[in-house]
Amino acid sequence: MTRLPFPLAPDPEAEALERGRKLFAGRCEFLKGVVAMSGLPPADRVEICFAGRSNVGKSTLINALTGQKALARASNTPGRTQEINYFALGEAHYLVDLPGYGFAKAPVATVEKWQRLLKAYLSGRPTLRRAFVLIDARHGIKAVDQEILTLLDKAAVPFQAVLTKADKVKAAEREKVLDQVRARLQPHPAAFPEMIVTSSEKGDGIATLRSTIAALADV
Ligand code: GTP
Ligand code: MG
Repeated sequence: MTRLPFPLAPDPEAEALERGRKLFAGRCEFLKGVVAMSGLPPADRVEICFAGRSNVGKSTLINALTGQKALARASNTPGRTQEINYFALGEAHYLVDLPGYGFAKAPVATVEKWQRLLKAYLSGRPTLRRAFVLIDARHGIKAVDQEILTLLDKAAVPFQAVLTKADKVKAAEREKVLDQVRARLQPHPAAFPEMIVTSSEKGDGIATLRSTIAALADV
């Protein structure tokens, strides 16, 4: 197997940066919370989603990208997001905030229900252009993440690893975690070969992620 280096995404060129800025400076509104596949909105535009373990920072990242502090509900309690939340970004994009996987402070039956929905969504949404899989920069890829990455491989959904909470780790520790993530991404054919390191708190990587999303409309 060819070993991919999985470098960090380079800083975007000025034009790409501007496209990302413009896209996210536009309107972004909550559309609906979906609890069953039958409730998904029509698959009529570019859709990107944020997946990851409970509490990794999915909802907070959507707020940082859109510059709206309370657009997606974030909280310190794992299991805050329990529905598939759709946000309309401009006329041509959906941003999708997913319930987390792994440990959640919610009743087992409830968690099982949303895990089933999450998996059905990730493997059955034709307009899903890319899944951003969020990984805590302190912890790296865990077994529960591997399960989701394998599911994305099988469904042929391209995914990109995004490290979160970069402000919580020192540079040396971050490098170790990045190496672990690189190694774990290797076996996954659906992995996009660049990673993005972010901090929703400090703003690191947010402009890069905005332009990455803006560029997806062209693909
Ligand atoms: P679920 O909806 O439960 O799956 O969680 P989530 O992945 O949406 O996480 P959420 O955005 O609710 O964030 C969880 C906690 O992490 C919150 O207390 C956030 O303030 C915190 N957090 C998220 N991103 C960052 C970050 O970049 N830096 C720091 N320091 N804290 C963050
Ligand atoms: Mg959430």
